[in-house]
Amino acid sequence: MPVIVMASPKGGVGKSTCAVLLASEFARMGAEVTVLDCDPNKSLTRWASHGTPKGVTLLSDIGRSEIVPTIRAADGDGRIVIVDLEGVASQLVSRAISQADLVIVPMQPTALDAEIGSEALALVREEEEALGRKIRHAVVLTKTSAAVKSRVQKELEEQLRGAGIDMIEPPLVARAAFSEIFAYGYDLTAMMQDQGMMTGGKVDKAIINAQSFMEAVYERLK
Ligand SMILES: Nc1ncnc2c1ncn2[C@@H]1O[C@H](COP(=O)(O)OP(=O)(O)O)[C@@H](O)[C@H]1O
Ligand SMILES: [Mg+2]
Repeated sequence: MPVIVMASPKGGVGKSTCAVLLASEFARMGAEVTVLDCDPNKSLTRWASHGTPKGVTLLSDIGRSEIVPTIRAADGDGRIVIVDLEGVASQLVSRAISQADLVIVPMQPTALDAEIGSEALALVREEEEALGRKIRHAVVLTKTSAAVKSRVQKELEEQLRGAGIDMIEPPLVARAAFSEIFAYGYDLTAMMQDQGMMTGGKVDKAIINAQSFMEAVYERLK
């Protein structure tokens, strides 16, 4: 089964958010998903402490020496494996990338993020060289504007596509629901149904966005 790794040496770009959305959307389609929280900041563990959707299992505190055997064990059990990493470049990050069927590099559409995001792409290339094989990878833009595509976003998309980088469509729009899910747990649908927890509104649009994102990722795993 596929191993999907979230990687970027920058914090706050949306790695953990992508991991939560993918895990819960794959589970909603009936898949069994194991999520590995390899970040000492434990975003995923906090999300799971409120409750995980049916089909999602979370493993916390996975360190450098456990990462490869843990991925192999979960993968061997026929589960989708999603690895959430800390925003650093480390041996743990490299080892996780070396096991990936798909590396997702979330990037915010700002000039600074693009620069640091390209370091994540460089990390993938280094692993490819070390292993002597290609590792599929793609960029997803995050926290984009729902209303208009900024000039920076247009330029960044052009630049990345021009460099032959696979860009996941659609980007993840900036939506309150995507950040509230960490405090709510479970998935967006459960959050929407629980009206009392619905503070940001527009959860339905967030669900459509998350689902299309998951489908675009799924296409890349076939
Ligand atoms: N698409 C989005 N819309 C709204 N908030 C977002 C979105 N993506 C991330 N965030 C928020 O931005 C912050 C950083 O996101 P996170 O996924 O934790 O990034 P990382 O794991 O790369 O450090 C969090 O507070 C998260 O809730
Ligand atoms: Mg994170």
